[in-house]
Amino acid sequence: MAKRIGILTGGGDCPGLNGVIRAVVLHAHNSYGWDVVGVRNGFEGLYEEAYVELDPRRVVHLLARGGTMLGSSNRANPFAYPIQLPDGRVEIMDVSARILQNLAKLDLEGLIVVGGDGTMSFGKRFVDLGAKMVGVPKTIDNDLEATDYTVGFQTAVEVVVEAVDRLQTTAESHERILIVEVMGRYAGWIGLTAGVAAGAHVVLIPEIPYDIDRVVDAFHRRHGRGVSYSIVIIAEGATPAGGDHAVAVKGDATRQDRLGGAGERLADAIQARTDYEVRTVVLGHLQRGGTPCAFDRELATRYGVKAVELIAEGQFGHVAALDRNVIVAKTMDKAIKKLKLVDPAGELARAARAVGIELGA
Ligand code: F6P
Repeated sequence: MAKRIGILTGGGDCPGLNGVIRAVVLHAHNSYGWDVVGVRNGFEGLYEEAYVELDPRRVVHLLARGGTMLGSSNRANPFAYPIQLPDGRVEIMDVSARILQNLAKLDLEGLIVVGGDGTMSFGKRFVDLGAKMVGVPKTIDNDLEATDYTVGFQTAVEVVVEAVDRLQTTAESHERILIVEVMGRYAGWIGLTAGVAAGAHVVLIPEIPYDIDRVVDAFHRRHGRGVSYSIVIIAEGATPAGGDHAVAVKGDATRQDRLGGAGERLADAIQARTDYEVRTVVLGHLQRGGTPCAFDRELATRYGVKAVELIAEGQFGHVAALDRNVIVAKTMDKAIKKLKLVDPAGELARAARAVGIELGA
C-alpha cells in the first residue's frame, strides 16, 4: 500500500488555501508516490473522522478557486472542544487524546496543518504530544512572526484597494468622509498596506492608538486646501487613545472575541466634532472571499511544495515560511510565540507619513 500524508485547513478561510492543497497533492503524488487524505473542517474532521481521499484529478481547476475545498472551522479547538450532550447542553472538553487515536489509525507519514496562529498553536501542542505535523501559514491578517507573508494577505489587500478606488469617486462627488473598516484582528497590516497602495488620507491601525482631534485636524487641513472629501481606512482592531477594542461578539473558551464596530465608533466621534457628512463601509468577509491574486497562488504553491518536503525530511514541528523571497523552514514555536505587528516607527509607517497619510498619532 502506498504511503500517505494528510492535510487540513483550520481557522478562518482565505483565498489561496486551495492552491496549497493542489500543490501538496501534486508534489506528493508526482515526486514521492504518496497518497493524500484531506481532513474536513480543520481539527473537527480529525475528531469526527471526516476524511476525503485527494488525488490529482480532484485538484484540477483548483488553483484559482477561493475558499477551501476541505472546509474549515474556527471553533474546532481540540483542547477546548464544544460537545453537544444528549440533553442539548454544550460542554467544553479536551478531545486531544481521541484525535491522537484517530491520527494513529490514519497511519500518516505526516499531517500538514494549514492555519494561522490558533491552528498553528494546536499543531505545536500535538507535535509536543508526539504527532507528526508540519505547518503552512495562512491568514489575511499577515500576523505570523515566522514569515514575511501569509497566504491570503495580498488578495485581501487587493480587495481593499479596489474598494477604496471606488469609494474615492463617490466620496469626492458628495464631499463626504468615507470610513472603510477592514479586517486584520489585532494587526494593522491590511489597513496600512492597503492605505498606502490606495492613497487613503487617514489610516488607523491597532498598533497606533489614534487621537481623534488629530484625525479631525487632518480633515480640516484638507478642507483648508479646498479638498472637501477624505478616505479613512480603519482596522477593526484600531482603538482611540486610552480606549478599548470595538468588540461585536464576545469570545468564549472556544473562540476569540469577534471584532467589529470600530468604523461606526469613529464616525460617531467625527460627527460629534464636525459638520462633515460621514459614511461607513465595512468590508468584512469580502476580504476573505473570491479568487486569489497571482501572488497568493504562487506563494500557496511554494508553501505546499515545501510542506511535503518537510514531511519527507522528517522536520516535524516546522512550518514553511517566506524569508526575503526564499522559502525556508521555521519552527512552529516561532510562528506562534508572538503576533507580528506593524512597527509604528518602521519603514512602512514612515513611508505612509512621508506621503501625507495621517496615522492618528
Ligand atoms: O483572522 C482572519 C479574520 O478574518 C480576521 O481578520 C477577523 O477578525 C476574523 O477572522 C473574523 O472571523 P469570523 O470568520 O469568525 O467572522
